[in-house]
Amino acid sequence: MAPVITCIEDLRVIAKRRVPRMFYDYADSGSWTESTYRSNETAFQKIKFRQRVAVNMENRSLENTMIGENVTMPVALAPTGLTGMQHADGEILAARAAEKFGVPFTLSTMSICSIEDVAEHTSRPFWFQLYVMKDKGFVERLINRAKAAKCSALVITLDLQILGQRHKDIKNGLSSPPKPTLTNLINLATKPYWCWHMLHTKRRTFGNIVGHASGVSDTSSLSAWTSQQFDPALSWDDVAWIKDKWGGKIIIKGIMEPEDAHLAVKSGADALIVSNHGGRQLDGALPSIEALPAIVDAVGKDNIEIYLDSGVRSGQDVIRSVAMGARGVFIGRPFLYGLGAMGEAGVTKALEVIRNEADLTMAFCGLRNIKDVNKSILVPGTYPT
Ligand code: GLV
Repeated sequence: MAPVITCIEDLRVIAKRRVPRMFYDYADSGSWTESTYRSNETAFQKIKFRQRVAVNMENRSLENTMIGENVTMPVALAPTGLTGMQHADGEILAARAAEKFGVPFTLSTMSICSIEDVAEHTSRPFWFQLYVMKDKGFVERLINRAKAAKCSALVITLDLQILGQRHKDIKNGLSSPPKPTLTNLINLATKPYWCWHMLHTKRRTFGNIVGHASGVSDTSSLSAWTSQQFDPALSWDDVAWIKDKWGGKIIIKGIMEPEDAHLAVKSGADALIVSNHGGRQLDGALPSIEALPAIVDAVGKDNIEIYLDSGVRSGQDVIRSVAMGARGVFIGRPFLYGLGAMGEAGVTKALEVIRNEADLTMAFCGLRNIKDVNKSILVPGTYPT
């Protein structure tokens, strides 16, 4: 009998059972002590709602726009590395689920399925997340490939030019595809669902990179890519150069401080994402939801949309973020758990869970339209200012 899924945690438990340990751990961990990774979630839970009663709750809507694109709820799928290792063809499956649901999908530079592959299997334009490499010719080719694939926005990640240390990835010997060590083979033998699907795809390593870039000793390793290829000297001048080459919508990811938010506005970006990279980079950084108010105060009235990621695990968290001034949020792990648990159907399930929670939470707070959600639905003193 198929398991009954009622929340993101149900999907996480199944994904943990089905996905090889190194890939499950890759998604489900943070850097060093994981204090930021954990506090991203606990910070949300401290924020309390004001319950209203006897208010008309009919005809509710979560619809809005993100960078001018219609969304059925203000939630985009975040760019996550190695998504195609949570489930075979993972990026294609997630992009399809997002398209059917009516929310944006963001493809990571470090994806398994390539830009062209995802474009071929979808019709809604997706967003492409760009890491900036030292080899600017390669970056330019990536930008041109995203243009050719009709991507409708470029998400430039500014907080991962060097990789935060994640203990489990080192201990597990994370690589894509996994190396045929005894430990890996024993672990894979306990993951028949994953192996079955993986045997039926050719997409098992970094599709945007292998065969397109040169000069990396181990093409299966994310840490080798970042240390050898990513440009630690990345600056706002590079952002200006990318904007010029791209010519379309830009979303800047990884903003945690008002100074940087001002620079993002100055760069001419259409949106910024308040993000500590899911607690995977600077351990000890503020939870994103606690960094949000200062950024909304600093640039909220400027011509830029403010999004948030890191720690969103429920529709309640979506409503909390919107109430605190985010126009939209990105979810990473919730959709990865769905993908690892049940492929495309699992991503759809994750989106449905979050939509239902957001919809009912908004109603319990006495509102019927996401566009009306603001701080007045939160209990003063429980939210960061
Ligand atoms: C990004 O690719 C990450 O591993 O956080």
